[in-house]
Amino acid sequence: MTRVTVLGIETSCDETAAAILRLEDGKTTILSEIVRSQIEEHAPYGGVVPEIAARAHADVADKVVAAAIRDSGLSLQAIDGIAATSGPGLIGGVMVGMMTGKAIALATGKPFIPVNHLEGHALSPRLASDCPFPYLLLLVSGGHCQFIEVKGLGDYTRLGTTIDDAAGEAFDKLAKLLGLGFPGGPAVERTAMGGNPGRYKLPRPLLDRAGLDMSFAGLKTAAARIIEAGSLDEQDKADLCASYQAAIADCLSARAGRALDGFRGGKDGKRLVVAGGVAANTAIRQALEAVAEANGAVLIAPPLKHCTDNAAMIALAGAERLVEGSVPSEAMTFSSRPRWPLDEQSAATNPVYGGGKRGAKA
Ligand code: KG4
Ligand code: ZN
Repeated sequence: MTRVTVLGIETSCDETAAAILRLEDGKTTILSEIVRSQIEEHAPYGGVVPEIAARAHADVADKVVAAAIRDSGLSLQAIDGIAATSGPGLIGGVMVGMMTGKAIALATGKPFIPVNHLEGHALSPRLASDCPFPYLLLLVSGGHCQFIEVKGLGDYTRLGTTIDDAAGEAFDKLAKLLGLGFPGGPAVERTAMGGNPGRYKLPRPLLDRAGLDMSFAGLKTAAARIIEAGSLDEQDKADLCASYQAAIADCLSARAGRALDGFRGGKDGKRLVVAGGVAANTAIRQALEAVAEANGAVLIAPPLKHCTDNAAMIALAGAERLVEGSVPSEAMTFSSRPRWPLDEQSAATNPVYGGGKRGAKA
């Protein structure tokens, strides 16, 4: 019998989160989880401001961790390891979470586990559903938009990625152009409800090309032109949001279909997992559901609170690594990484993603 209890800490973007999770013979129990969102701090700027994020994490990280420990009913000594997001992300925030985790590890003598934030998302369906390896993951958030084949713990192949904006970023940009507020995705989805998705003909970039890469920057430019061309009334705005959302749903589902086509799946069939904040979008989920069904696969979407940034997924990644004995050596001297591709191999060899001094983009 294996049983590990791990404290997870997440601070890579605009949520300060801590969770305590137990992994016992492959079964996951979340004992506590706290998420403190910074949306109010960033809303006046229409996007996440890195310096404000770092300061806000520094203000509350210790309190959020203390609250998670208190809610779990456990003492710190009952915890077997401390996992913290150590990249990729906004570096000020990542450093706050990682240093908090290292300090607790040092004080308690428990192991510290540096976790790749993308690995947390990749494993997030395993928090609740019965989701054995392998599966195909579509990670769609404000910072990421990529297809990953998840073959096992630490065994990831990135099949395609956006070459410019992430899908969530595209939603946020349209919301900003229309003055709908931040975060943009939910606002665009609400506005789209009364709209006609066929009204505006918007581009579906890269869809005529082979491979699984995506592009969303041209979509934002096309929408900006429509907005600049004349004052839009409420119905026009609804139609534009619906058309824009449909274009993103088409791009993601067409790519998902192609990805599923080339994916062999496991003994028990094919699973397509969608994670990241954009997975909250109903039109996108429906489009993915349809394409999964058409390809003989099941769509798994973690509950919303585990689609967006959270610490339970970081604790799970730490717990799985602790059980497997694959905690990186030198964990206590691990440096936070603003860029940290899950699949370093494909990032390093594909010229589209760029290398440079700072390393390949995540
Ligand atoms: O995963 P997440 O919470 O944070 C990271 O970016 O890592 O994702 C946030 C992104 C934002 O861009 C937000 O606009 C988008 O997810 N989002 C949505 C919806 N809810 C959140 N996009 C479309 N429709 C939604 N309902
Ligand atoms: Zn994330």
